[in-house]
Amino acid sequence: MERTLILLKPDCIQRRLAGRILSRFEDKGFNIVAMKLMQITPDLARQHYAEHVAKGWYPALEKFITGGPVVAAIVEGLEAIRVVREMVGATSGLKAAAGTIRGDYSSSRQMNLVHASDGSEAATREINLYFKPEELVAFEPTITPWLRASDET
Ligand code: CDP
Ligand code: MG
Repeated sequence: MERTLILLKPDCIQRRLAGRILSRFEDKGFNIVAMKLMQITPDLARQHYAEHVAKGWYPALEKFITGGPVVAAIVEGLEAIRVVREMVGATSGLKAAAGTIRGDYSSSRQMNLVHASDGSEAATREINLYFKPEELVAFEPTITPWLRASDET
């Protein structure tokens, strides 16, 4: 089992797409084990996007990501980090494959609706950045026997 962080970015909330995009992860069979509506501060944005802070486009990204509420959530499942990234698609909505979230809903390089951790180190770091341990609610869905065979772990 893996856990990964997703953010439904301000464009996603403003466009009323949060429910539809969360549904994709639910439909896939993933568990949502933590979730909250929040506003990202400039300080949190700089920590989250530390690798991009020095880039020319960072100020615009910070203005965007702090410019409205986001939904932060932890998604759990087998190979969740890779699978969620693949479901999200390439960074630009203009390049992302049809069938991915960005490919289906975004026409922008910046306003691409959803963030997902890009590896296991990032997932651990980002989960700890957005959630305290007591905010996680682990549970075993009753539907698990109909999502995969018992030897698939
Ligand atoms: O989110 P992802 O890992 O696919 O892309 P990234 O290259 O790590 O960039 C992080 C975020 O910065 C993107 O998701 C875009 O929202 C934003 N960005 C931007 O505003 N302008 C760019 N030229 C590239 C990325
Ligand atoms: Mg990235």
